[in-house]
Formats: sequence, structure tokens, C-alpha cells
Amino acid sequence: MRLQKYIASCGVTSRRKAEEMIRAGRVKVNGIKIDQMGYIVNNDDVVELDGKKISIDEKLVYIALNKPVGYITSVSDEQQRPTVMDLLSDLEFRVFPVGRLDFNTSGLLLLTNDGQMSYKLTHPSHKIYKTYRVKASGILSQQDIERLKKGVDIGGYITAKAYVMVEGFKDNCTIVEIKIFEGKNRQVRRMFKSIGHKVLELERIAIGDIQLGKLKRGHYRKLTKKEIEYLKRL
Ligand code: URA
Repeated sequence: MRLQKYIASCGVTSRRKAEEMIRAGRVKVNGIKIDQMGYIVNNDDVVELDGKKISIDEKLVYIALNKPVGYITSVSDEQQRPTVMDLLSDLEFRVFPVGRLDFNTSGLLLLTNDGQMSYKLTHPSHKIYKTYRVKASGILSQQDIERLKKGVDIGGYITAKAYVMVEGFKDNCTIVEIKIFEGKNRQVRRMFKSIGHKVLELERIAIGDIQLGKLKRGHYRKLTKKEIEYLKRL
């Protein structure tokens, strides 16, 4: 197995980050520093990351978290802000977030120690739809909805077709459910901005067929066997 894939399979990070670690000279095989991609690891090789032995037989875990607003989707933060890891203190295995949600976004976040799965779910070529519930300022017109559905310019990039459904209107705001197949930075906020509406609240309610459901804010659960099989089939 290639070294970067091996490191990801050990559940210590994603494949992309594993490549950075190798380039940075943090990885040794049988005591020798390997800083080039593509090195082949055999079953009896001893792989070390930052001087600590890592191996592939760690149990793979898959977690769904309902991220509250005010947490960053990162393992640590230079500014000492709360991170999603603070909500998972009693987990027996180390996991890391799959993709990201903004500080001000709440809702479904997957975490795992399965680097290969994480790579698959976050790679742009795998178009896995994500569903968001949006509270947007003002009353959206039918024309606004059509524009969101067809694709809008979010600053040098035209978004792909989206599913958009108005759930209702409240206090001069519109509640919208939107499904998108891409994951550009702050995409939903930028899509609404481009049609002249501000996102006041944003919650992710599904990743593909994995639903947030009734999971309480700040709480997490293990994915079911069926959900894990679904992710593996994607
Ligand atoms: N789109 C956004 O604008 N923010 C998120 O956190 C997720 C999708």
C-alpha cells in the first residue's frame, strides 16, 4: 500500500494531510525518513509519525455530531476558540471532522478516523449532496428561487443546479431548504448574497442520505451499520 494511503488508513488524518506530513519529513519507515510520495509499505514494515508507531488495526468509527453555532470545525484553534473536538471528550477513539462547517453554521457534521472515507466524502469529484435549512432576510420571490435553482455567480464561479424549496415565511424572513452538490467555501451564504438576501441562520440537515434527525445540539451519535454501508457504497 502507498505510504500516504497507509497513514490515512491508520485513522490519524486524511490522505491529503498525510501527503503534507510525508513532505514535511515527519514520517519514518523502519527507522528511515521517507519524504517522497508513492513509497510502498509492506505488512511487516514499522511506520512512525512524529516518532510514534502507527498501525492500521485501529477500529474505524463514524460519528454524527449536531454542531452548535460558535464552534470551529477543526482539531485545534490558534485563537483558542471552542472546537468541535471539545464536544467529543468521552470518545474512546481519535476522530477528525469530515469537511467543514462555518463557525456560525450549525447542524450535521461527520467525524471519523477513516481517512479513506474522509477523502472520498470531501473530494470534489464525488458529488455528494448536502441539504441546508436557511433563514434568509426578506421575502424571496419566485424569480429569486429560480436563480438559486439554475446557478448563481458567487464571485467568479457559477454554482451548479440546486434543489430549492420554500418552507415558509416568518417575521419578514424566508425559510428555505436547499440541496447543493458542491462544497465551495461559504457557498450557501454567498449564493443568497448574490440574489440580494442575507443568511441569518444556517443549519445543515443532511449529508447525502444521512439525516440530522432529532439529534440535539451539541450531542453526537455513532452512525448505524446501514448508514456506514451507504457511505461505503457511494
Ligand atoms: N455553506 C455556507 O455558507 N456555510 C457552511 O458552513 C456550509 C455551507
